[in-house]
Amino acid sequence: MDDQALMKLAEKAAEKSYSPYSHFSVGAALLCSDGAVYTGCNIENVSFSVTNCAERTALFSAIADGRRDFVKIAVIAFRHDGRIVLTPPCGVCRQALLEFCSGDLDILMTDGHNITEAKLNSLMPSAFCEF
Ligand code: THU
Repeated sequence: MDDQALMKLAEKAAEKSYSPYSHFSVGAALLCSDGAVYTGCNIENVSFSVTNCAERTALFSAIADGRRDFVKIAVIAFRHDGRIVLTPPCGVCRQALLEFCSGDLDILMTDGHNITEAKLNSLMPSAFCEF
């Protein structure tokens, strides 16, 4: 699947966003090595810290389905006015992704015009990974 098609699936997932507090709708699409895709949206809560980001929704859904073979994740975010904002995964999502993906995971982000790509390990250097 090409990057644009994966981003389109993330965009579709953002339509399901439950974000009455931030009005910031995020969608993510996680691609597995066999071409399967798991999508997710952000799900907010009146107790803000309970909120789950789109990336973790997609990741947890894939893990719950027995998947461990991730290649890339596309992320798209819409402001309340519909404008797309380039949104790298938050630190919590980076840590969650690192638990199951190599630092080589490609993270695709978009500003609505272009798709930018970054490796997980470039966004999360010196991560805690052992105890
Ligand atoms: N959010 C995500 O879903 N993914 C990110 O990478 C950044 C932030 C969500 C969490 C919250 O619902 C809203 O965006 C505003 O922070």
